Amino acid sequence: MGARSRRWRTLRPYVEGMEKLIIEGERPLKGEVTISGAKNAALPIMAATLLTDEPCVLRNIPQLRDTRTMIALLESLGKAVQVDGDKVTISSTDKMDCVADYKLVSTMRGSFCVLGPLIAKLAKAKVSLPGGCVIGIRPVDLHLKGLKALGAKIEIENGYVLANARHLRGSHIYLGGMFGSSVLATANILMAATLAKSQTIIESAACEPEIENLTQFLIAMGAKIKGKGSHCLTVTGVKKLRGVSFKIIPDRIEAGTYILMAAATKSCITVRNGCYAHLMGLIDKLDQAGVKVTEEEGLIKVRPRKTIKPIGITTHPYPGFPTDLQAQFMALMALTQGVSVITDKIYPDRFMHIAELNRMGADIRRDGPNAIVNGIKKLYGAPVMASDLRASAALIIAGLAAKGRTEIHRMYHLERGYEALDEKLTALGAKVYREQESL
Ligand code: EPU
Repeated sequence: MGARSRRWRTLRPYVEGMEKLIIEGERPLKGEVTISGAKNAALPIMAATLLTDEPCVLRNIPQLRDTRTMIALLESLGKAVQVDGDKVTISSTDKMDCVADYKLVSTMRGSFCVLGPLIAKLAKAKVSLPGGCVIGIRPVDLHLKGLKALGAKIEIENGYVLANARHLRGSHIYLGGMFGSSVLATANILMAATLAKSQTIIESAACEPEIENLTQFLIAMGAKIKGKGSHCLTVTGVKKLRGVSFKIIPDRIEAGTYILMAAATKSCITVRNGCYAHLMGLIDKLDQAGVKVTEEEGLIKVRPRKTIKPIGITTHPYPGFPTDLQAQFMALMALTQGVSVITDKIYPDRFMHIAELNRMGADIRRDGPNAIVNGIKKLYGAPVMASDLRASAALIIAGLAAKGRTEIHRMYHLERGYEALDEKLTALGAKVYREQESL
Protein backbone atom coordinates (compact mmCIF):
# COMPACT_ATOMS: atom_id res chain seq x y z
CA MET A 1 0.00 0.00 0.00
CA GLY A 2 1.25 3.48 -0.78
CA ALA A 3 1.29 6.18 1.85
CA ARG A 4 -2.10 7.75 2.47
CA SER A 5 -2.77 11.21 3.82
CA ARG A 6 -4.02 11.61 7.36
CA ARG A 7 -7.29 13.07 6.06
CA TRP A 8 -8.14 10.10 3.86
CA ARG A 9 -7.04 7.62 6.51
CA THR A 10 -9.45 9.11 9.00
CA LEU A 11 -12.40 8.83 6.64
CA ARG A 12 -15.05 6.69 8.29
CA PRO A 13 -14.39 3.08 7.34
CA TYR A 14 -16.78 1.86 4.69
CA VAL A 15 -19.05 -0.77 6.23
CA GLU A 16 -21.74 -1.75 3.80
CA GLY A 17 -25.23 -1.30 5.19
CA MET A 18 -24.14 -0.08 8.64
CA GLU A 19 -25.27 3.52 8.40
CA LYS A 20 -28.41 5.24 7.22
CA LEU A 21 -28.88 8.91 6.42
CA ILE A 22 -31.65 10.77 8.22
CA ILE A 23 -33.16 13.93 6.76
CA GLU A 24 -35.62 16.15 8.60
CA GLY A 25 -37.33 17.80 5.63
CA GLU A 26 -38.99 21.11 4.80
CA ARG A 27 -36.06 23.30 5.82
CA PRO A 28 -34.99 25.87 3.25
CA LEU A 29 -31.34 25.82 2.19
CA LYS A 30 -29.23 28.94 2.23
CA GLY A 31 -25.64 30.01 1.69
CA GLU A 32 -22.92 28.58 -0.46
CA VAL A 33 -21.74 25.12 -1.43
CA THR A 34 -18.34 24.33 -2.95
CA ILE A 35 -18.17 21.72 -5.68
CA SER A 36 -15.47 19.02 -5.62
CA GLY A 37 -13.46 17.58 -8.50
CA ALA A 38 -15.33 15.47 -11.04
CA LYS A 39 -15.41 11.76 -10.20
CA ASN A 40 -15.88 10.75 -13.81
CA ALA A 41 -12.92 12.85 -14.96
CA ALA A 42 -10.70 11.76 -12.06
CA LEU A 43 -11.15 8.01 -12.67
CA PRO A 44 -9.90 7.79 -16.30
CA ILE A 45 -7.20 10.40 -15.62
CA MET A 46 -5.92 8.34 -12.68
CA ALA A 47 -5.93 5.28 -15.01
CA ALA A 48 -4.03 7.29 -17.66
CA THR A 49 -1.06 7.63 -15.28
CA LEU A 50 -0.36 3.97 -16.18
CA LEU A 51 0.83 5.28 -19.57
CA THR A 52 3.98 6.83 -18.09
CA ASP A 53 6.85 5.72 -15.83
CA GLU A 54 7.21 9.26 -14.52
CA PRO A 55 5.29 10.57 -11.48
CA CYS A 56 2.04 12.48 -12.03
CA VAL A 57 0.53 14.91 -9.54
CA LEU A 58 -3.26 15.18 -9.74
CA ARG A 59 -5.09 17.99 -7.93
CA ASN A 60 -8.78 18.40 -7.09
CA ILE A 61 -9.27 14.62 -6.76
CA PRO A 62 -12.51 14.11 -4.80
CA GLN A 63 -12.31 11.90 -1.71
CA LEU A 64 -14.84 9.24 -2.61
CA ARG A 65 -15.28 5.50 -2.38
CA ASP A 66 -14.72 5.27 -6.17
CA THR A 67 -11.45 7.23 -6.15
CA ARG A 68 -10.28 5.09 -3.24
CA THR A 69 -11.11 1.99 -5.28
CA MET A 70 -9.09 3.39 -8.20
CA ILE A 71 -6.14 4.05 -5.86
CA ALA A 72 -6.34 0.46 -4.60
CA LEU A 73 -6.48 -0.78 -8.21
CA LEU A 74 -3.46 1.30 -9.27
CA GLU A 75 -1.56 0.04 -6.23
CA SER A 76 -2.45 -3.55 -7.13
CA LEU A 77 -1.05 -2.86 -10.61
CA GLY A 78 2.26 -1.71 -9.09
CA LYS A 79 1.87 2.06 -8.81
CA ALA A 80 2.82 3.87 -5.60
CA VAL A 81 0.16 6.37 -4.57
CA GLN A 82 0.52 9.23 -2.11
CA VAL A 83 -2.47 11.25 -1.02
CA ASP A 84 -2.37 14.69 0.53
CA GLY A 85 -5.84 16.22 0.77
CA ASP A 86 -7.13 16.56 -2.80
CA LYS A 87 -3.61 16.09 -4.23
CA VAL A 88 -2.75 12.57 -5.36
CA THR A 89 0.76 11.68 -6.55
CA ILE A 90 1.05 8.51 -8.61
CA SER A 91 4.49 7.03 -9.32
CA SER A 92 5.79 3.84 -10.88
CA THR A 93 7.57 1.02 -9.09
CA ASP A 94 9.63 -1.74 -10.66
CA LYS A 95 6.82 -4.23 -10.04
CA MET A 96 4.15 -3.29 -12.57
CA ASP A 97 1.43 -5.89 -13.07
CA CYS A 98 -1.19 -6.25 -15.81
CA VAL A 99 -3.99 -8.01 -13.88
CA ALA A 100 -7.00 -5.97 -12.74
CA ASP A 101 -8.80 -8.19 -10.27
CA TYR A 102 -12.54 -8.95 -10.21
CA LYS A 103 -12.86 -7.72 -6.61
CA LEU A 104 -11.88 -4.18 -7.59
CA VAL A 105 -13.32 -3.96 -11.11
CA SER A 106 -16.70 -5.44 -10.16
CA THR A 107 -17.38 -2.70 -7.59
CA MET A 108 -16.95 0.13 -10.06
CA ARG A 109 -17.23 0.29 -13.84
CA GLY A 110 -14.73 3.15 -14.00
CA SER A 111 -12.01 0.56 -13.19
CA PHE A 112 -12.43 -0.94 -16.66
CA CYS A 113 -10.61 2.04 -18.14
CA VAL A 114 -7.26 0.64 -17.00
CA LEU A 115 -7.56 -1.78 -19.96
CA GLY A 116 -6.46 0.66 -22.70
CA PRO A 117 -3.43 2.03 -20.79
CA LEU A 118 -2.29 -1.44 -19.70
CA ILE A 119 -2.28 -2.83 -23.25
CA ALA A 120 -0.54 0.28 -24.57
CA LYS A 121 2.17 0.30 -21.89
CA LEU A 122 2.68 -3.37 -20.99
CA ALA A 123 1.52 -4.98 -24.28
CA LYS A 124 -0.86 -7.21 -22.35
CA ALA A 125 -3.67 -6.96 -19.86
CA LYS A 126 -6.02 -9.18 -17.93
CA VAL A 127 -8.95 -7.11 -16.73
CA SER A 128 -12.10 -8.43 -15.11
CA LEU A 129 -15.34 -7.73 -16.99
CA PRO A 130 -17.26 -5.14 -14.98
CA GLY A 131 -20.63 -6.90 -15.28
CA GLY A 132 -24.09 -5.35 -15.20
CA CYS A 133 -25.53 -3.11 -12.54
CA VAL A 134 -28.87 -1.77 -11.39
CA ILE A 135 -28.94 0.98 -14.01
CA GLY A 136 -28.81 -1.50 -16.91
CA ILE A 137 -26.82 -4.20 -18.69
CA ARG A 138 -23.86 -1.99 -19.65
CA PRO A 139 -21.93 -4.04 -22.25
CA VAL A 140 -18.27 -3.43 -23.21
CA ASP A 141 -18.47 -4.34 -26.92
CA LEU A 142 -17.39 -0.85 -28.05
CA HIS A 143 -14.29 -0.94 -25.83
CA LEU A 144 -13.28 -4.30 -27.31
CA LYS A 145 -14.14 -3.31 -30.90
CA GLY A 146 -11.90 -0.25 -30.63
CA LEU A 147 -8.98 -2.14 -29.08
CA LYS A 148 -9.25 -4.90 -31.73
CA ALA A 149 -9.15 -2.21 -34.43
CA LEU A 150 -5.86 -1.04 -32.90
CA GLY A 151 -4.49 -4.57 -33.32
CA ALA A 152 -5.06 -6.06 -29.87
CA LYS A 153 -5.92 -9.77 -29.69
CA ILE A 154 -8.83 -10.12 -27.30
CA GLU A 155 -10.24 -13.20 -25.62
CA ILE A 156 -12.81 -13.53 -22.87
CA GLU A 157 -11.94 -16.21 -20.34
CA ASN A 158 -13.50 -16.89 -16.93
CA GLY A 159 -14.99 -13.43 -16.68
CA TYR A 160 -11.77 -11.66 -17.67
CA VAL A 161 -10.75 -9.81 -20.83
CA LEU A 162 -7.35 -11.10 -21.93
CA ALA A 163 -5.69 -8.67 -24.30
CA ASN A 164 -2.35 -8.92 -26.07
CA ALA A 165 -0.74 -6.52 -28.48
CA ARG A 166 2.96 -6.37 -29.12
CA HIS A 167 2.47 -3.27 -31.27
CA LEU A 168 -0.75 -1.30 -31.32
CA ARG A 169 -1.29 0.28 -34.73
CA GLY A 170 -3.35 3.34 -35.53
CA SER A 171 -6.69 2.77 -37.20
CA HIS A 172 -9.88 4.52 -38.32
CA ILE A 173 -12.49 3.59 -35.69
CA TYR A 174 -16.21 4.31 -35.44
CA LEU A 175 -17.25 4.18 -31.77
CA GLY A 176 -20.99 4.91 -32.06
CA GLY A 177 -23.27 2.36 -30.43
CA MET A 178 -27.00 1.72 -30.08
CA PHE A 179 -27.21 4.41 -27.43
CA GLY A 180 -24.81 6.92 -28.97
CA SER A 181 -21.15 7.34 -28.11
CA SER A 182 -19.58 5.70 -25.08
CA VAL A 183 -17.70 7.76 -22.51
CA LEU A 184 -15.39 5.09 -21.10
CA ALA A 185 -14.90 3.30 -24.45
CA THR A 186 -13.69 6.63 -25.87
CA ALA A 187 -11.38 6.98 -22.84
CA ASN A 188 -9.96 3.46 -23.29
CA ILE A 189 -9.33 3.78 -27.04
CA LEU A 190 -7.97 7.33 -26.78
CA MET A 191 -5.49 6.29 -24.07
CA ALA A 192 -4.39 3.19 -25.99
CA ALA A 193 -3.97 5.21 -29.23
CA THR A 194 -1.55 7.69 -27.64
CA LEU A 195 1.23 5.06 -27.68
CA ALA A 196 0.15 3.24 -30.88
CA LYS A 197 2.17 3.37 -34.10
CA SER A 198 0.94 5.98 -36.60
CA GLN A 199 -2.43 7.73 -36.66
CA THR A 200 -5.79 6.80 -35.10
CA ILE A 201 -9.04 8.55 -35.95
CA ILE A 202 -11.89 8.00 -33.47
CA GLU A 203 -15.25 8.87 -35.05
CA SER A 204 -18.36 9.28 -32.90
CA ALA A 205 -16.14 9.85 -29.89
CA ALA A 206 -17.86 10.94 -26.67
CA CYS A 207 -17.43 14.68 -26.14
CA GLU A 208 -18.39 14.86 -22.46
CA PRO A 209 -16.34 17.43 -20.48
CA GLU A 210 -14.72 14.50 -18.63
CA ILE A 211 -13.32 13.17 -21.93
CA GLU A 212 -12.14 16.66 -22.87
CA ASN A 213 -10.40 16.86 -19.49
CA LEU A 214 -8.74 13.47 -20.10
CA THR A 215 -7.64 14.70 -23.55
CA GLN A 216 -6.09 17.81 -21.95
CA PHE A 217 -4.25 15.58 -19.48
CA LEU A 218 -2.90 13.32 -22.24
CA ILE A 219 -1.80 16.35 -24.31
CA ALA A 220 -0.01 17.72 -21.24
CA MET A 221 1.76 14.34 -20.98
CA GLY A 222 3.03 14.77 -24.55
CA ALA A 223 0.30 12.97 -26.53
CA LYS A 224 -0.54 14.32 -29.98
CA ILE A 225 -4.31 14.69 -30.17
CA LYS A 226 -6.44 16.92 -32.38
CA GLY A 227 -10.18 17.58 -32.03
CA LYS A 228 -10.28 17.97 -28.22
CA GLY A 229 -13.90 18.11 -27.01
CA SER A 230 -15.33 17.05 -30.39
CA HIS A 231 -16.86 13.87 -31.83
CA CYS A 232 -13.75 13.20 -33.94
CA LEU A 233 -10.40 12.71 -32.24
CA THR A 234 -7.21 12.30 -34.27
CA VAL A 235 -4.31 10.79 -32.37
CA THR A 236 -0.76 10.50 -33.67
CA GLY A 237 1.03 7.93 -31.55
CA VAL A 238 4.21 8.87 -29.68
CA LYS A 239 6.90 6.60 -28.18
CA LYS A 240 6.68 7.88 -24.62
CA LEU A 241 4.55 10.07 -22.36
CA ARG A 242 5.87 12.17 -19.48
CA GLY A 243 4.64 12.79 -15.94
CA VAL A 244 2.75 16.05 -15.30
CA SER A 245 0.90 18.03 -12.66
CA PHE A 246 -2.77 18.48 -13.54
CA LYS A 247 -6.02 19.80 -12.05
CA ILE A 248 -9.33 17.92 -12.46
CA ILE A 249 -12.44 19.89 -13.58
CA PRO A 250 -15.34 20.46 -11.17
CA ASP A 251 -18.05 17.81 -10.93
CA ARG A 252 -20.98 18.95 -13.09
CA ILE A 253 -23.26 16.23 -11.72
CA GLU A 254 -22.55 17.19 -8.12
CA ALA A 255 -23.20 20.85 -9.01
CA GLY A 256 -26.42 19.90 -10.83
CA THR A 257 -27.57 17.88 -7.82
CA TYR A 258 -27.15 20.85 -5.43
CA ILE A 259 -28.95 23.12 -7.92
CA LEU A 260 -31.87 20.65 -7.97
CA MET A 261 -31.85 20.46 -4.15
CA ALA A 262 -32.26 24.24 -4.06
CA ALA A 263 -35.03 24.12 -6.67
CA ALA A 264 -36.99 21.43 -4.79
CA THR A 265 -36.77 23.29 -1.47
CA LYS A 266 -37.50 26.69 -3.14
CA SER A 267 -34.18 27.98 -1.80
CA CYS A 268 -31.71 30.51 -3.16
CA ILE A 269 -28.15 29.17 -2.95
CA THR A 270 -24.75 29.92 -4.45
CA VAL A 271 -22.62 27.24 -6.02
CA ARG A 272 -18.87 27.87 -5.91
CA ASN A 273 -16.37 26.10 -8.20
CA GLY A 274 -19.06 24.78 -10.54
CA CYS A 275 -18.70 25.11 -14.30
CA TYR A 276 -21.82 26.87 -15.65
CA ALA A 277 -21.02 26.00 -19.29
CA HIS A 278 -21.03 22.26 -18.48
CA LEU A 279 -24.56 22.50 -17.08
CA MET A 280 -26.46 24.10 -19.97
CA GLY A 281 -28.60 21.00 -20.68
CA LEU A 282 -29.96 21.19 -17.10
CA ILE A 283 -30.09 24.99 -16.85
CA ASP A 284 -32.21 25.29 -20.00
CA LYS A 285 -34.81 22.85 -18.64
CA LEU A 286 -34.82 24.53 -15.24
CA ASP A 287 -35.38 27.89 -16.91
CA GLN A 288 -38.51 26.45 -18.58
CA ALA A 289 -39.61 25.05 -15.21
CA GLY A 290 -39.26 28.46 -13.52
CA VAL A 291 -35.89 28.10 -11.79
CA LYS A 292 -33.39 30.83 -12.65
CA VAL A 293 -29.80 29.69 -12.67
CA THR A 294 -27.31 32.42 -13.50
CA GLU A 295 -23.57 32.89 -13.55
CA GLU A 296 -22.34 35.90 -11.61
CA GLU A 297 -18.65 36.62 -11.18
CA GLY A 298 -17.69 32.97 -11.48
CA LEU A 299 -20.38 31.76 -9.07
CA ILE A 300 -23.61 29.95 -9.97
CA LYS A 301 -26.72 31.45 -8.35
CA VAL A 302 -29.97 29.50 -8.07
CA ARG A 303 -33.28 31.33 -7.63
CA PRO A 304 -36.42 29.19 -7.91
CA ARG A 305 -39.96 30.60 -8.29
CA LYS A 306 -42.65 29.58 -5.78
CA THR A 307 -44.25 27.15 -8.21
CA ILE A 308 -42.29 24.86 -10.49
CA LYS A 309 -43.77 24.00 -13.89
CA PRO A 310 -43.80 20.39 -15.12
CA ILE A 311 -41.24 19.92 -17.90
CA GLY A 312 -40.45 16.75 -19.83
CA ILE A 313 -36.84 15.70 -20.40
CA THR A 314 -35.05 13.12 -22.52
CA THR A 315 -31.49 12.24 -21.64
CA HIS A 316 -28.83 12.38 -24.36
CA PRO A 317 -25.04 12.33 -24.55
CA TYR A 318 -23.39 15.70 -23.82
CA PRO A 319 -24.36 18.49 -24.37
CA GLY A 320 -27.87 17.01 -23.95
CA PHE A 321 -29.58 16.48 -20.61
CA PRO A 322 -27.29 14.08 -18.66
CA THR A 323 -28.56 10.68 -17.60
CA ASP A 324 -26.68 11.21 -14.32
CA LEU A 325 -29.19 13.97 -13.39
CA GLN A 326 -32.33 12.17 -14.58
CA ALA A 327 -33.30 10.71 -11.19
CA GLN A 328 -32.68 14.02 -9.39
CA PHE A 329 -34.76 15.94 -11.96
CA MET A 330 -37.57 13.42 -11.50
CA ALA A 331 -37.62 14.16 -7.76
CA LEU A 332 -38.15 17.84 -8.61
CA MET A 333 -40.87 17.07 -11.19
CA ALA A 334 -42.69 14.97 -8.56
CA LEU A 335 -43.47 18.29 -6.84
CA THR A 336 -45.01 20.22 -9.77
CA GLN A 337 -48.68 20.84 -10.49
CA GLY A 338 -49.01 18.80 -13.68
CA VAL A 339 -47.65 15.92 -15.72
CA SER A 340 -44.12 15.53 -17.05
CA VAL A 341 -42.63 12.71 -19.09
CA ILE A 342 -39.05 11.62 -18.45
CA THR A 343 -37.24 9.40 -20.95
CA ASP A 344 -33.75 7.97 -20.52
CA LYS A 345 -32.15 7.29 -23.92
CA ILE A 346 -28.81 6.29 -22.42
CA TYR A 347 -30.00 3.79 -19.82
CA PRO A 348 -33.66 2.95 -20.61
CA ASP A 349 -33.91 0.92 -17.38
CA ARG A 350 -32.50 3.56 -15.03
CA PHE A 351 -35.75 3.93 -13.09
CA MET A 352 -35.14 2.14 -9.76
CA HIS A 353 -35.85 5.39 -7.92
CA ILE A 354 -39.52 5.48 -9.05
CA ALA A 355 -40.71 2.94 -6.46
CA GLU A 356 -38.83 4.68 -3.65
CA LEU A 357 -40.10 8.16 -4.61
CA ASN A 358 -43.61 6.69 -4.66
CA ARG A 359 -43.08 5.47 -1.08
CA MET A 360 -42.75 9.16 -0.22
CA GLY A 361 -46.10 9.96 -1.82
CA ALA A 362 -44.98 10.70 -5.40
CA ASP A 363 -47.22 9.58 -8.24
CA ILE A 364 -44.90 8.22 -10.92
CA ARG A 365 -45.43 5.25 -13.20
CA ARG A 366 -43.20 3.54 -15.71
CA ASP A 367 -44.45 3.22 -19.25
CA GLY A 368 -41.79 1.40 -21.31
CA PRO A 369 -38.80 3.75 -21.71
CA ASN A 370 -40.73 6.64 -20.12
CA ALA A 371 -41.60 7.67 -16.60
CA ILE A 372 -44.89 9.55 -16.32
CA VAL A 373 -44.72 11.90 -13.38
CA ASN A 374 -48.01 13.25 -12.01
CA GLY A 375 -46.97 16.14 -9.83
CA ILE A 376 -48.31 16.26 -6.28
CA LYS A 377 -48.45 19.05 -3.67
CA LYS A 378 -46.31 17.42 -1.02
CA LEU A 379 -43.96 14.53 -0.41
CA TYR A 380 -43.85 12.85 2.98
CA GLY A 381 -40.79 11.46 4.75
CA ALA A 382 -40.47 7.66 4.73
CA PRO A 383 -37.86 4.92 5.08
CA VAL A 384 -36.43 4.38 1.59
CA MET A 385 -33.69 2.30 0.01
CA ALA A 386 -30.87 3.76 -2.11
CA SER A 387 -30.28 1.53 -5.16
CA ASP A 388 -27.45 3.37 -6.93
CA LEU A 389 -25.53 6.59 -6.71
CA ARG A 390 -27.84 8.96 -8.60
CA ALA A 391 -31.06 7.30 -7.37
CA SER A 392 -29.81 7.99 -3.83
CA ALA A 393 -29.27 11.64 -4.72
CA ALA A 394 -32.89 11.80 -5.94
CA LEU A 395 -34.06 10.46 -2.56
CA ILE A 396 -32.05 13.16 -0.78
CA ILE A 397 -33.73 15.86 -2.89
CA ALA A 398 -37.13 14.36 -2.11
CA GLY A 399 -36.23 14.05 1.60
CA LEU A 400 -35.12 17.69 1.83
CA ALA A 401 -38.46 18.85 0.37
CA ALA A 402 -40.67 16.32 2.18
CA LYS A 403 -42.66 16.83 5.34
CA GLY A 404 -41.18 14.83 8.21
CA ARG A 405 -38.31 12.38 8.55
CA THR A 406 -36.79 10.41 5.69
CA GLU A 407 -34.42 7.51 6.36
CA ILE A 408 -32.18 6.56 3.45
CA HIS A 409 -30.83 3.04 3.83
CA ARG A 410 -27.73 1.77 1.96
CA MET A 411 -26.30 5.26 1.98
CA TYR A 412 -22.89 3.88 1.00
CA HIS A 413 -24.02 4.38 -2.61
CA LEU A 414 -23.83 8.13 -1.99
CA GLU A 415 -20.24 7.87 -0.80
CA ARG A 416 -19.26 6.64 -4.27
CA GLY A 417 -19.90 10.04 -5.82
CA TYR A 418 -20.70 12.88 -3.40
CA GLU A 419 -17.78 14.15 -1.36
CA ALA A 420 -18.66 15.21 2.21
CA LEU A 421 -22.35 15.26 1.35
CA ASP A 422 -23.69 15.45 4.91
CA GLU A 423 -21.19 18.18 5.87
CA LYS A 424 -22.03 20.24 2.77
CA LEU A 425 -25.78 19.90 3.37
CA THR A 426 -25.46 20.78 7.05
CA ALA A 427 -23.53 23.93 6.08
CA LEU A 428 -26.44 24.84 3.80
CA GLY A 429 -28.81 24.63 6.76
CA ALA A 430 -30.29 21.18 6.16
CA LYS A 431 -30.93 18.84 9.07
CA VAL A 432 -29.10 15.74 7.95
CA TYR A 433 -27.28 13.16 10.05
CA ARG A 434 -26.17 9.54 10.07
CA GLU A 435 -27.49 6.81 12.33
CA GLN A 436 -26.33 3.26 12.81
CA GLU A 437 -28.57 0.69 11.16
CA SER A 438 -30.20 -1.53 13.77
CA LEU A 439 -29.29 -5.16 13.11
N1 EPU B 1 -22.64 0.98 -24.32
C1 EPU B 1 -22.63 -0.05 -25.22
N2 EPU B 1 -21.46 -0.70 -25.43
C2 EPU B 1 -20.30 -0.35 -24.82
C3 EPU B 1 -20.32 0.72 -23.90
C4 EPU B 1 -21.50 1.37 -23.68
O1 EPU B 1 -23.67 -0.40 -25.80
O2 EPU B 1 -19.28 -0.99 -25.06
C5 EPU B 1 -23.90 1.69 -24.06
C6 EPU B 1 -24.28 1.71 -22.59
O3 EPU B 1 -24.96 0.53 -22.21
C7 EPU B 1 -25.15 2.94 -22.51
C8 EPU B 1 -24.47 3.88 -23.50
O4 EPU B 1 -23.69 3.04 -24.36
O5 EPU B 1 -26.44 2.65 -22.98
C9 EPU B 1 -23.57 4.92 -22.88
O6 EPU B 1 -22.72 4.30 -21.92
P1 EPU B 1 -21.26 4.82 -21.65
O7 EPU B 1 -20.29 3.81 -22.15
O8 EPU B 1 -21.11 6.21 -22.16
O9 EPU B 1 -21.22 4.81 -20.08
P2 EPU B 1 -19.92 4.58 -19.23
O10 EPU B 1 -18.79 5.17 -19.96
O11 EPU B 1 -19.82 3.18 -18.80
C10 EPU B 1 -19.99 6.85 -17.94
C11 EPU B 1 -20.15 7.31 -16.52
C12 EPU B 1 -21.57 7.06 -16.06
C13 EPU B 1 -22.52 7.82 -16.98
C14 EPU B 1 -22.28 7.38 -18.43
C15 EPU B 1 -23.12 8.16 -19.43
C16 EPU B 1 -17.95 6.97 -15.58
C17 EPU B 1 -17.09 6.25 -14.61
N3 EPU B 1 -19.22 6.57 -15.67
O12 EPU B 1 -20.26 5.46 -17.93
O13 EPU B 1 -21.66 7.63 -14.75
O14 EPU B 1 -23.84 7.55 -16.63
O15 EPU B 1 -20.91 7.57 -18.79
O16 EPU B 1 -22.87 9.51 -19.34
O17 EPU B 1 -17.50 7.88 -16.25
C18 EPU B 1 -22.46 7.86 -12.56
O18 EPU B 1 -21.53 8.65 -12.34
O19 EPU B 1 -23.41 7.71 -11.75
C19 EPU B 1 -22.45 7.07 -13.79
C20 EPU B 1 -23.19 5.97 -13.95
